[in-house]
This record gives sequence, C-alpha cells and structure tokens, in this order.
Amino acid sequence: MSHSHDFLATAAVANDLTLGKNYDRATWFYDLCSAIFSGGKIRASKKFAVSHLAPGERVLFLGVGTGEEAVMAARRGAIVTCIDLSVKMLEVLRRRLQAEGLEAELVCANAFEYRTDRPFDAVAANYFLNIFYRADMERMLAHAASLIKPGGQLLIADVSPAQGSWPARWFNIAYLKLAMVTFWLLGLVPLHRNYDYLEAFPQAALTVERIRTYRFLRYGPVLFRTIIARRADPNRTIS
Ligand SMILES: C[S@@+](CC[C@H](N)C(=O)[O-])C[C@H]1O[C@@H](n2cnc3c(N)ncnc32)[C@H](O)[C@@H]1O
Repeated sequence: MSHSHDFLATAAVANDLTLGKNYDRATWFYDLCSAIFSGGKIRASKKFAVSHLAPGERVLFLGVGTGEEAVMAARRGAIVTCIDLSVKMLEVLRRRLQAEGLEAELVCANAFEYRTDRPFDAVAANYFLNIFYRADMERMLAHAASLIKPGGQLLIADVSPAQGSWPARWFNIAYLKLAMVTFWLLGLVPLHRNYDYLEAFPQAALTVERIRTYRFLRYGPVLFRTIIARRADPNRTIS
C-alpha cells in the first residue's frame, strides 16, 4: 500500500470513529426525539417497510441504530443481520432483542465495507441514506443494491422530498431542514439538499414497487415516505 493510501485509510478510520462516537452520544435521546419530531410517523414508516418481509427471509439493516424495526422484523420470523458504526446504538438493540428472546446478528462496522457471499432477500436502509453527501449516498445505494439477491427487495423509510402545493413544499423544507441543522450541529449529518432516491434507482438496477407517504398531522404536507423497491433479476423471463 502506498503512503497516500495509508493516509486515506487512516483518515477513513478516524472519520468512522468520530461519527460512531457522535452517534454513541446521541443514543439516549435519538428514539425519543424521532418519535416527538415525527409524531410517530417515523416509526410507522419503518413498520410499513418491515411488513414486506416474510418469515424465514434474510434481511440486512444498514445503519440500524437502536433498531426498533429490526426487532419488528425478528418478531415476524425474518433472519436479521444489523450493521451500525455505533457500539451504544447496537447495545440498546441487543438489550431489546434479549428482552423478547429474539435473535439477530449485530455487526459494528462501516456499512461501506460490509461484504457477503450470500446476498440477502432484502436490505433495509431506514433514515440512513440521508446522512451522506450525495456522492456517498449514491455509492451507498449502489452498495446496498449489490447486497440484495437478484429479485430481492430494498426497503427505504426516510424523509420525503417536498411535494404538492408551494406552501406544502415550503413547510416540508423548513420542517426537515430544522432537523437537519440540529443533527448537523451534533455532528451526525452533513448539510445537504433533500434527496429523491428514485433518481438514483436506474443506475442501481432498482425498480419501485410501492410508495407510501406520511403527512404532518393527518392531512398536512408530506414529510416522510417508505419506498419498496426490487433489484432486477436478469434470469427472470417475462411470459
Ligand atoms: C440517522 S440514524 C438512523 C438509525 C435507524 N435506522 C433509525 O431509523 O432510527 C443513522 C445510523 O447510521 C449509523 N451509521 C452512520 N454511518 C454509518 C456507516 N458508514 N456504517 C454503518 N452505520 C453507520 C449511525 O451510527 C446511526 O445509528
């Protein structure tokens, strides 16, 4: 390895450590804040994503955090693997699973470096792709797709791009920017425009099957959404 590679590798490890530690520090308030901020919609969006898993299916959760949705998946009988940079987030998840007598494989590592010989039936990236700059988000999306077996599912619950009338769009932008700036001040996310992941789907050989949106209160502007997508299966013949 050259010196510049050594330096880049060291810088990347230092970055992982810092981000992991920042999320460690956020562990105690993360779930409560997300529940209050979204009025329970973040949880609902993840629950809907998990409802697409069948018993016995192998699912990988990227950036799982404290993993309420991984617990939901394990309850449904899915075979769950979870990856996260934060030891403390995974520790909470381990206790949650233990409390219900459920099992999952928990991996504390950088998801970019995660590889497997056995692609998954489904990969879930919930409120995860949004923590990267665009180039890294696209890289992570492609990586997530590469971990799914052909014909398998990608489940994404996340903030939604602004849509609807202009007041609804402005509300979406202001509301979600408030959260982003707060998280940025805590060193958890970079500042960036909200993404429409669908734009990056064709490159990652993904097609959308379902989208469900979640509004502020009952009829307010759209703030969150769940996307159910499928990885292309080159062997599938159309009859
Ligand atoms: C915004 S939180 C979302 C957590 C969870 N999915 C949820 O919906 O509540 C992002 C999570 O990704 C983890 N994370 C950040 N960068 C990561 C990386 N490169 N590899 C693995 N996990 C990462 C953080 O530690 C954190 O738990």
